[in-house]
Amino acid sequence: MAAGRSPLDDLRDTFSHLAEQIKMSGSERADSGDVLGNRPTPARPLAEVQAELDALVGLDTVKEQVRALVALLQVQARRKAHGLPEVATSQHLVFLGNPGTGKTTVARLLAEMYRAVGLLQKGHLVEVDRSGLVGQYVGATAIKTDRVIRRALDGVLFIDEAYALAPEDGRMDFGPEAIEVLLKRMEDHRHRLVVIVAGYPRLMESFLLSNPGLRSRFAREITFPDYSVDDLESIFTKTLAQHEYMLEEGADQMLRRILAGLHAGEDSGNARFARTLFEQALNRQALRLSLNEERSLDALDRDDVMTLTTEDLVEAARALGEGPAPEETQLPEPVRWWRW
Ligand SMILES: Nc1ncnc2c1ncn2[C@@H]1O[C@H](COP(=O)(O)OP(=O)(O)OP(=O)(O)O)[C@@H](O)[C@H]1O
Ligand SMILES: [Mg+2]
Repeated sequence: MAAGRSPLDDLRDTFSHLAEQIKMSGSERADSGDVLGNRPTPARPLAEVQAELDALVGLDTVKEQVRALVALLQVQARRKAHGLPEVATSQHLVFLGNPGTGKTTVARLLAEMYRAVGLLQKGHLVEVDRSGLVGQYVGATAIKTDRVIRRALDGVLFIDEAYALAPEDGRMDFGPEAIEVLLKRMEDHRHRLVVIVAGYPRLMESFLLSNPGLRSRFAREITFPDYSVDDLESIFTKTLAQHEYMLEEGADQMLRRILAGLHAGEDSGNARFARTLFEQALNRQALRLSLNEERSLDALDRDDVMTLTTEDLVEAARALGEGPAPEETQLPEPVRWWRW
């Protein structure tokens, strides 16, 4: 009998592939489509992706800029269809914003939109940071960067904290080598690769100035502002509704105090804080319910398991190293209409 592949061999291959992907986490994260062997999923229609973008809380200027980018591509495509010359514009972008402001989320949607309008064939997102591009010894960086770029072809390469590739202190570093390779490949694969570099506003400027090739290729910048207390409250409330939870009466006041107590800026966590606060509150709720001696877990009713209390929120915030703003703080007036 021929020594054919057994199902176990296939399983072993799948596991080793998955293990590879898991090892990459942090420095080289791939979309799930990649994990499953790059099997192309059908493109979602533009309107559907656009609706998902529109449903994000806040980000008005970001949405407007993305709309303009996509509209330009659509008009250029129509011009081409009419036999008119296309104006070749660079699609590479700089995303400026603090952590948790929605950069990765928007990049992923934008990649899908590029696919929907025919700019990119696959429209997947390959997200890396410095450690995914830079090697430890001479020659390793070019190989690593090249490999990542190959994975990103026909999609978007998203480089988070890109400024880390150009350290300001002038020490001997392989970061600039990665930038050189990147610039070269962006030219070689003009029609198959969109690169988005992202990071804190104050550090990205010096990154763009670190190599004369960068500024000209990344002509467009999209700024992701910090979320307001209203936005964060909306993100929290939306997450709550999505998962069929609710706040006990009066807990919304505490939520606003916690969100107002965050210091806007680089380390506030922004939308990510709103989401982790929700997750932490679930832990606190579960603990509270399980420790309740008057009522066994089996006796809990629908409302019990749906409700998060003021105390759950306070404990959750504390676990995240935050506390509510003092009671006398003038909280911004809540906006009483939501736009979703
Ligand atoms: N406008 C929004 N509406 C709803 N949820 C949002 C919004 N912006 C971000 N989020 C959620 O907040 C979390 C963080 O967002 P994201 O990863 O896109 O931020 P980021 O700017 O890429 O952060 P980092 O710089 O830390 O990578 C995600 O879970 C995302 O779903
Ligand atoms: Mg991100």
